[in-house]
Amino acid sequence: MIPADKNKQIQELIASLDKPALIWLKGFIEGVISKTPEDAGAVAKTSASGKKITIAYGTESGNSKKIASVFAAKAKQEGIQTKVVSLDQYRFTDLPKEEYFLTVISTQGEGEPPSSAKKFYDHIHQNGFKLPQLKYGVLALGDTSYPMFCKAGEDVDNQLGHLGAQRIIDIQRCDVDFETDAQSWFNGVLQKLSGQPSLNAPVLKPAKKGSAHHIEIASEGVQYKSGDSIGIIPHNPEHLVRAIIQHTGIDPEISFVHRDETCSAYELLHKKLNIIYLPERVVSKYAAHIQKEITPVKTGLLELLTLHPVKDASHFEAFIQQLEPTTPRLYSIASSLEKFDGEVHLTVGRDAYCVAEEQRYGLCSDLLCALKPGDTMDFYVHHNDQFRLPEENKDVIMIGPGTGIAPFRAFLAERDATGAAGRNWLFFGDQHFTTDFLYQTELQQWIETGTLHKLDLAFSRDQQQKIYVQDKIKKQGDEFYNWLQSGATVYVCGAKKMSEDVEIAILEVIRQSGKTEDADEFFNQLKESGRYLKDVY
Ligand SMILES: Cc1cc2nc3c(=O)[nH]c(=O)nc-3n(C[C@H](O)[C@H](O)[C@H](O)COP(=O)(O)OP(=O)(O)OC[C@H]3O[C@@H](n4cnc5c(N)ncnc54)[C@H](O)[C@@H]3O)c2cc1C
Ligand SMILES: Cc1cc2nc3c(=O)[nH]c(=O)nc-3n(C[C@H](O)[C@H](O)[C@H](O)COP(=O)(O)O)c2cc1C
Repeated sequence: MIPADKNKQIQELIASLDKPALIWLKGFIEGVISKTPEDAGAVAKTSASGKKITIAYGTESGNSKKIASVFAAKAKQEGIQTKVVSLDQYRFTDLPKEEYFLTVISTQGEGEPPSSAKKFYDHIHQNGFKLPQLKYGVLALGDTSYPMFCKAGEDVDNQLGHLGAQRIIDIQRCDVDFETDAQSWFNGVLQKLSGQPSLNAPVLKPAKKGSAHHIEIASEGVQYKSGDSIGIIPHNPEHLVRAIIQHTGIDPEISFVHRDETCSAYELLHKKLNIIYLPERVVSKYAAHIQKEITPVKTGLLELLTLHPVKDASHFEAFIQQLEPTTPRLYSIASSLEKFDGEVHLTVGRDAYCVAEEQRYGLCSDLLCALKPGDTMDFYVHHNDQFRLPEENKDVIMIGPGTGIAPFRAFLAERDATGAAGRNWLFFGDQHFTTDFLYQTELQQWIETGTLHKLDLAFSRDQQQKIYVQDKIKKQGDEFYNWLQSGATVYVCGAKKMSEDVEIAILEVIRQSGKTEDADEFFNQLKESGRYLKDVY
């Protein structure tokens, strides 16, 4: 099979290598074979399949859970028996029996484990037991802007080692943009499970941050106020619907009664039902329907049907109505009728994420960002009386990084058009000044015309040290506090996680600049009197 001259070269090469190099070469060749089309996937599947892993996550805001679920889906594709569990649900008595135990855990507070992982953390630290059989790995989520970076993950990694467990892979510490590091760590785990050396673990492409789009909709007669949003019920992509129909064999014309309306299977899947990302409860219902044990993790319908197929078309027909309706997506209105009569403007971030190695885009934001002039779409106005400008002579502080700026463009446009006397202070931020400074020229004009009194910008990735809006708030603590004292209303819009950090920063400002022990009380009063308003997602 191998010509004599090549055979000689191989023998010479082998003779010149030491044992570690030979092991590496073995894995390298297996990797090359696995990439050849006829055998794609076969090597990883056969060598790791049958192994049992438990992925236990400790999370506060959901990142670790999300990562654990992605890992689980991937492991299952490799034929590995996989259990995903939150650390607060984990039975300690199972620990000595585990084959492979992977922990994904964030750090909270000042270097502490998340509250859901506290009992587990205390259990492994307090009890004098040994875990000689356990093979483990730790993925630690954290944020380099905290002094105790990934401390909880480090503690768990060290402590499991002290208990005699065998570390199969070094701890990976991840910063806030954790996806790439997390995925390459898990590829390393998979390689360990399949007995391959983990050299050259493929690094997956990170989900690139989706670009922001400004969209103007002609909407004659539509009434709204600054602070409102619009709601859209997005249609599912036709190619996905066709793939589901093909996969299940369901007749696309067969009729169902859905919410008192008769619809074909095609219409249901295309316009009415959530097939993009099923919640855990629907996955559980599907598991019961096909009478199979399936770990309830969020997933797309096609992925679920591919991994766990229905018997035939009628089997799917009997399940289809257990799918849930598509939920509306809300978008803050970025315009004011005072300035843009007959129009609704939006600031839409094209949501981007990665599944396995594939880059994907959010359903509704992708549809919106692909709109061309002249296209039409259905929407409704979602009124929000909890997010309104105060009286004209009152000051406002607006904190809206990223697409969070949308309602504040509406506020500023309204205050500009009505000549409101109150002062306006905007905190805006994103990754880069050159690519992400939304509404730059408008903001500059509003500064020149005196509508915008203060503008603070935080572009996190333009320098080595990351800077966020909350840092800018803290930097201007005394002035921020003076504005609060003089009756300003504070508005926060954008990512939920950002709003939590902003809240911590404001509390610190009140404590330090207000020189008060009772910052919580001051803050609560702000909230109760409607002077601290959030619209976060
Ligand atoms: C009050 C409010 C105001 C808002 N204002 C704005 C605004 O002004 N601008 C703006 O851009 N957004 C805004 N949003 C967010 C917006 O409503 C949407 O949530 C956002 O655009 C994402 O929706 P999507 O349909 O594009 O993504 P979806 O398809 O719903 O996906 C969302 C996420 O789900 C996950 N996911 C989806 N499918 C899968 C799958 N098959 N496998 C694995 N993971 C998956 C991914 O993590 C993805 O990032 C606002 C939200 C609220 C509540
Ligand atoms: C209040 C708070 C405190 C935090 N403290 C730390 C810390 O001390 N060290 C660290 O590395 N990360 C810290 N973080 C960052 C989180 O670990 C990080 O955002 C992580 O991605 C959260 O993952 P989770 O959603 O799974 O909890 C903190 C975050 C918050 C909100």
